[in-house]
Amino acid sequence: KCLQESDLSQECKELIPTLPLEKGMFTAALHQYQGFWFTPNFLQGDLSCQKHFQALDNDILLVTSPKSGTTWLKALSFALINRNKYPNIHINHPLLTTNPHGLVPFLVNLYFDKDFVPDLQKIPPPRLFSTHLPYELLPKSVKESTCKVVYLCRDPKDTFVSLWHFGNKLVPQSSEVLSLEDAFKSFCKGVSLYGPFWEHVLGYWKKSLESSEKVMFLKYEEMKMKPDFYLKEIAKFLECPFSKEEESKGVVDDILNLCSFENLSNLEVNKTGKMSYGVENKVYFRLGQVGDWKNLLTIEMIEHINTITENKFVKHGLNF
Ligand code: A3P
Repeated sequence: KCLQESDLSQECKELIPTLPLEKGMFTAALHQYQGFWFTPNFLQGDLSCQKHFQALDNDILLVTSPKSGTTWLKALSFALINRNKYPNIHINHPLLTTNPHGLVPFLVNLYFDKDFVPDLQKIPPPRLFSTHLPYELLPKSVKESTCKVVYLCRDPKDTFVSLWHFGNKLVPQSSEVLSLEDAFKSFCKGVSLYGPFWEHVLGYWKKSLESSEKVMFLKYEEMKMKPDFYLKEIAKFLECPFSKEEESKGVVDDILNLCSFENLSNLEVNKTGKMSYGVENKVYFRLGQVGDWKNLLTIEMIEHINTITENKFVKHGLNF
């Protein structure tokens, strides 16, 4: 469903023809809405979400740019906040039988249908949702409530490479896709789903500096290096820190092991299962490593994208 054009609302049907249009990497078209690029059906879902989603003060919103580690962050956050509900992590934990995306829904997926507004009141607190929306376009209630936002970003080179492989797995063989060079050019120009990548990151980076109790800013590379440190930091940020007793019982390690790439990608559900919208669970797991860009990008590409990143980020105190 997420890669097909769904029925659009009247609002979207009228809005879309007025928006700047570019060829997307894998999809027919991307439309620029308030500075960011959307497919028609994501725009439909996100606009409906903006209009109807009512954040509660104790909600948790996980935010990423696509292919920055959303699946991992969802798994970790779900296991973290539900650790008392599922103490026996090795036997009956939902992550053993359900893909993380099935446990922490993307808000846009809940609001895809133009004729239906979901009732999310029944979900027991704390509710855990995710989105790829840039900070500027988050629903008003997210910004105005005390709901917490955890943002995970990733080196743009690895993000692009991950996106490239992901897109190639999803598009039918017969479809016309951009060449690697053209896809790279588009990404660098900022034309990618929910891009420009750099503006997406900066929106959350700036907010995290301004309001560190509202937005936690994480990097995939740092989390891969020190996962136990960052899991504990996330727990503190979400106001459910690990007790000394939990730490000595190995709860932190248990969660990290449960959510590791090796463990999740080898579970039956993630090898053979499918999302409700038809995408195979296994496409969310590829390598799960830092630095695979070295295997795909040319020296010129690396220099080009590094220069963009430096020009955009360094002046804001952000480095990769
Ligand atoms: P690679 O394509 O570089 O392997 P997202 O979850 O935002 O779609 O991002 C997908 C990327 O996260 C993929 O990167 C995927 O392999 C990686 N990933 C998935 N699960 C992970 C996990 N448990 N730990 C670390 N990385 C993970």
